[in-house]
Formats: sequence, structure tokens, C-alpha cells
Amino acid sequence: MKPELSLFCMAGVAALLGGSAAHAQDAAFGALIYKDHCAVCHGDTGGGDGKVGALFTQPPADLKLLSQGNNGVFPAERVIEAIYGRRDIQAHGQTEMPIWGDYFMTEALESRLIDPKDAAMVTQGRVLSVVSYLETLQVK
Ligand code: HEC
Repeated sequence: MKPELSLFCMAGVAALLGGSAAHAQDAAFGALIYKDHCAVCHGDTGGGDGKVGALFTQPPADLKLLSQGNNGVFPAERVIEAIYGRRDIQAHGQTEMPIWGDYFMTEALESRLIDPKDAAMVTQGRVLSVVSYLETLQVK
């Protein structure tokens, strides 16, 4: 994971998501995370049509339409918060969307390959990579 990621706060990170080479790399890593952790609900191509997602009363969001629903601008900050689980996604009641911030953090803390003091940074890197990937899925 890139150490420089830890230098940026959540809001600053939204500004970071540009078309750089680093971004393309992050998106490729994010695609792997997406396949492992998101596709079951949100579908292989982000359309909200995953096998498990179909079982919910509240359908998983179509992740290709995030920009379209935000005046053509990718809502990076909102997406980051939704994935971390910091946002009250629904006005009322619970959401079926797992809290990935906690999940990645637990995974990092349990990994013998990761120094516990780096766990927060690793978590942040994973979330940002998947956000970069989601940005590449947006329909114009
Ligand atoms: C267990 C099923 C499930 C899994 C797995 C899942 N999600 Fe979700 N997700 C949902 C549901 C249901 C919603 C829609 C309801 C809501 O917004 O609370 C949602 C909403 C979202 C939103 C909010 C969209 C918006 O309009 O703001 C984002 C972003 C998102 N998911 C990203 C992800 C990512 C990235 C992953 C993988 C790391 C993931 N989800 C894995 C069920 C899931």
C-alpha cells in the first residue's frame, strides 16, 4: 500500500481521484476487491443485480449511476462514506449494506502480514482503491 495515502484526510482524498497513472493502478486493485466483496450484491458489472442482492427487499444500489444521480459528477466523498459505513445511507431504519470500514480494519488487524499500526492505512487504501474502480464504471 502506498504510504502517502495516509497523509490525506477523507475530504482531500476526493480531490485526489483524478486520471493519473496511480489512479489506474488503484482501480485495478479495486476491481479485485470489488469481485471478492461487492459483486454478490451489486452485480458483476455494478448494475445492482448480484445474486445475493436480489434477496433483499431494499435492492443494492446500481453503482454505475452514481455520477448520473449527482449532476454528472462522481460523488467520491459520499461513496467513500457509504463504503466505510459512516453515512446514514437510508433516512430511516437499517441498511443491508455491510460496514466495510470495520470489515477491512478487522481483516488487516488479523493479518500477520500487516503491522497493526499500519492497519488504518491499509483499510483506507482498500476503500480508496474500490472507489477508484467504481469511478471507472460510471455511465456518462
Ligand atoms: C450484502 C449485500 C451488499 C454487499 C456485499 C455490498 N453492498 Fe453496497 N449496498 C447494498 C445495499 C442493499 C445498498 C443500497 C441501500 C443503501 O443505500 O443503504 C448498497 C449501497 C451501496 C452504496 C451507496 C450508493 C449510493 O447511492 O450512495 C455504495 C457506494 C456501495 N453500496 C458500495 C459497495 C461496495 C464498494 C461494496 C464492496 C466493498 C459493497 N457495496 C458491497 C448491499 C451490499
